[in-house]
Amino acid sequence: MTASTKSTPTASSGPAATEAEPSFEDLAERVDRAVEAAAALDGAAGEAAAELQAAIEEVHRVGLRRIVRAMRERPETRELLFTLVDDPVVHLLLSLHGIVRPDPVTHAQQVLTVVRPQLQSHGGDVAFDHVADGVAYVRLEGACNGCSMSAVTLRNLVEEALVAQVPAIHAVEVLPNEPTPTLISVESMFPRAAALPPGWVDGLGTDDVAPGALVAVHLAADDGTGADVVVVNVDNRISAYRNACAHEGLPLDGALLDVAAGTLTCPWHGFCYDATSGECLSAPGAQLEQLPVRVDGDRIWVRVHT
Ligand code: FES
Repeated sequence: MTASTKSTPTASSGPAATEAEPSFEDLAERVDRAVEAAAALDGAAGEAAAELQAAIEEVHRVGLRRIVRAMRERPETRELLFTLVDDPVVHLLLSLHGIVRPDPVTHAQQVLTVVRPQLQSHGGDVAFDHVADGVAYVRLEGACNGCSMSAVTLRNLVEEALVAQVPAIHAVEVLPNEPTPTLISVESMFPRAAALPPGWVDGLGTDDVAPGALVAVHLAADDGTGADVVVVNVDNRISAYRNACAHEGLPLDGALLDVAAGTLTCPWHGFCYDATSGECLSAPGAQLEQLPVRVDGDRIWVRVHT
């Protein structure tokens, strides 16, 4: 959009109340067809289509973020925002723009879409099956099967991508065609180094997080990475979580910490968590992303990435 094309926004009268709206499936199919058609364009036409898509998406992303932020900040509009986010079309739109977190199945499939070309370039592939109790079940094909180094490498690629990028997934199990399903724990994939490795941040003083307190803070590591984090103190037990509810990924700044019950309740739709483990008590299998914590003297260190 150039300056010369700008015009003063005016209120639209909107669609007539009786106008039939397309279904969620119709809308999703139309988007899929358009994306497929654009991807099939060659050369300059393909580049122009991609740029048009990116430009429109960026306008929508920025606008939607402003709308959601404004509605979230005002008590009188927050309830309406909750209702809207539960609408499948609105949820799809917001998750496409990274404003709410997609459900674990959608999120896992998005992650596999990204790693799949690398697998296919080595003659392998992966098929997503389902998620249950925080475990993603996948089937591996072609060069991903077997015991060769390359097969193990490709399998690790899938497993690490899912565990690292989908907070609700903490392990991956490979379904047959593997002879024996393999359960991979997060601990075995990320062994602890002897001294503080990269990613640890001297985040807060112990005085900043008194017993019964919940503190939301952005922590930045020396390597430029960072994370929005909530730190809670339950009877002097300090726990840190990525500041994103396992339900929609919305922030937990205003969460209710109930020390007596040992629970943390999300202010958005009421998902209730064990405050010291992050396990969701409202939805089995959901989990806050817990970050490693060390208390050294009067300082609280948090590892914001591995
Ligand atoms: S975002 Fe829905 S309960 Fe937290």
